[in-house]
Amino acid sequence: MFRCISSEGQKYKNLLNGQWVISRSGKWDKIFSPADGSLVGEVPAIGLEEADEFLKTAAGAQRSWATVPVSERAAILHKAADILLREKDTVAEILVREIAKNKKSSLSEVTRTADLIHFTAEEGKRVTGESLSSGAFPGFHETKLSIVNRVPVGVVLAIAPFNYPINLAASKIAPALVAGNAVVFKPPTQGAVSALYLARVFCEAGVPAGVLNVITGQGRAIGDHLVSHPLVNMVAFTGSSKVGKHIASIAGMKPLLRELGGKDAAIVLEDADLALAAQHTVSGAFSFSGQRCTAVKRILVMESVADKLIQQLLPLVRAMTVGRPEDDADITTLVSTEAADFVQELINDAVQKGAKLLTGNKRDKNIIYPALFDRVTVDMRIAWEEPFGPVLPILRVKTVEEAVKITNDSEYGLQASVFTESLDEAFRVAARLEVGTIQVNGKTERGPDHFPFVGVKSSGMGTQGIRYSIEAMTRSKAVVLNFH
Ligand code: NAP
Ligand code: G3H
Repeated sequence: MFRCISSEGQKYKNLLNGQWVISRSGKWDKIFSPADGSLVGEVPAIGLEEADEFLKTAAGAQRSWATVPVSERAAILHKAADILLREKDTVAEILVREIAKNKKSSLSEVTRTADLIHFTAEEGKRVTGESLSSGAFPGFHETKLSIVNRVPVGVVLAIAPFNYPINLAASKIAPALVAGNAVVFKPPTQGAVSALYLARVFCEAGVPAGVLNVITGQGRAIGDHLVSHPLVNMVAFTGSSKVGKHIASIAGMKPLLRELGGKDAAIVLEDADLALAAQHTVSGAFSFSGQRCTAVKRILVMESVADKLIQQLLPLVRAMTVGRPEDDADITTLVSTEAADFVQELINDAVQKGAKLLTGNKRDKNIIYPALFDRVTVDMRIAWEEPFGPVLPILRVKTVEEAVKITNDSEYGLQASVFTESLDEAFRVAARLEVGTIQVNGKTERGPDHFPFVGVKSSGMGTQGIRYSIEAMTRSKAVVLNFH
C-alpha cells in the first residue's frame, strides 16, 4: 500500500510543495473509463493564478535540490522505481480503466517504467563534464583551461500524452530530477489519475517538497499559461504535432524537447522474409489499438511480393481479439468518440476512393475493428494522416525509389522499417529516409528506453532517451582558468 495517500474516495489531489491539494475554485474534472463509461476519478481543475504557485514552489526548491549530491538524488530514484514495482498491479489496473490499455500492455508499461527510472538513476551518476586547453586553437598557447560542467536548466515543465501516462511522464521526470532540476508535471487529462499514482511513488520515495509538483487541468485551459511562464526554463512535451507546434510558437527562448506524431512506413522489399515482415507490421500497427506514435501506419510493399505478403498478413489481423481491456483483448475501445470518428472518417475516405478492404470497417461504439486495406493510393487521406487507431493501409510500389519518395513526402519523420535480407540494401535505403530512426527487419518502436528517440519534420525536435534526455535537461557551464 502507498504511504503517500493523495485521494479521498475518487477525488485525487495534486502535489504542491509536498502537500496534496485541490483547486481553490472547488472545480474538478471527471475522468470516465473509455471502455465502460464508469467514473475512474476526479482531478482538480487548477486555475491560472493557482498554477503560478506550482511554478514558484518549483523554482524555490530547485536551488537546494541541485546541491544534493547526485548519488543521493539517484538513490531516491532507485527507491521510486522499487515502489512502482511493488505497486505495479494497482497502477496497471488504473491504466486499464483510465485509458483502456489491455492488462498485459498496462503491466508492461509500469514495469518498463521502473526499469527506466533505475537506469536513469545510474546514468545520472555518469554525467560528466570535460576540460579543454587553449593550445588546441590556432594562435593560442597553453594559457587557458576551460573546465566545462553540466548544470541543471532549472524548472522543467513536463507534459505527457494519454497513451503512456506513466512511461512518458517518468521519461521526463526522472532525467530532470537526477540532473538537479525541479519539475512541474502536467499530465494528460485522460490519464491524470494514473499519473497521480506515479506522483505518489515519487512522494513516498522521498523527493523533497517542491522538487516535483503535479498540476492537473485541461491543456487548453492552463497549457499556454504554463508553457509561456517566465519561471519555466524548459518544456519537455510529448503529444500531437498540432499542440507541439503551438507550444513552439509561444515558448519564446525556452529550450524544447518535443516528441510528436508519426506516419511510420514499413518498406517491404522483394527479398524480404515475408513471414517476419507480416508478424512485425501487424504487431507494430495494432498494439494498443494503433494508439502509438510509433505504430506502423502504412506498408509500402514491392508489387511483385504484395499478394504473398497479404496472405501472411490477413490471418494475423483476423486473429486479433476485440473486446475489453480487462480481458486482455488485442483491440480495445479508442480513447474517445472524437478519436473513433476521426478513424472512421479516414476509413470512409479510403473506401470511397477505391481502396480494397481486406478486413475490418466495422465499428461498435468507440471500438474500431482492425482494418487492413490493399491498393491504397497517394490521393487517399489514409496514406498521409495519422489515424491513431487500428487501421493498416497497404500501398503497392514498383521501385525502391518510389517507396523512399512516399516515405519522405510525409509531413512526419519519426521512424521507418525496412524489411530485406540484404544489409547493403537496408543501409542504402536507410541513408535516404528522412526519419529519426530506421528499423531493419523489425517493427517501428521507441524502446529500449536508453536508445535515442528522435522525430524530424512534424514529428519532433530534440532527442529523448535516458542519456539524451539528461543532456537536454542540463546545459554546459564553463569556468576558465587563465595562467599568467
Ligand atoms: P495532445 O492532445 O497533443 O495532448 C498531449 C498533452 O498536451 C496533454 O497532456 C494535453 O493536455 C496537453 N495540452 C493540450 N493543449 C495544450 C496546450 N495548449 N499547452 C500545453 N499542453 C497542452 O496529444 P494526445 O492526444 O494526448 O496524444 C496523441 C498524440 O500524441 C498523437 O499525435 C501521437 O502521435 C502523439 N504522441 C507522440 C509520441 C512521441 O513520442 N513522438 C508519443 C506519444 C504520443 P489535456 O489532456 O488536458 O488536453
Ligand atoms: O506513442 C508514442 C510512444 O513514444 C511509443 O512508444 O514505441 O514504446 O510504443 P512505443
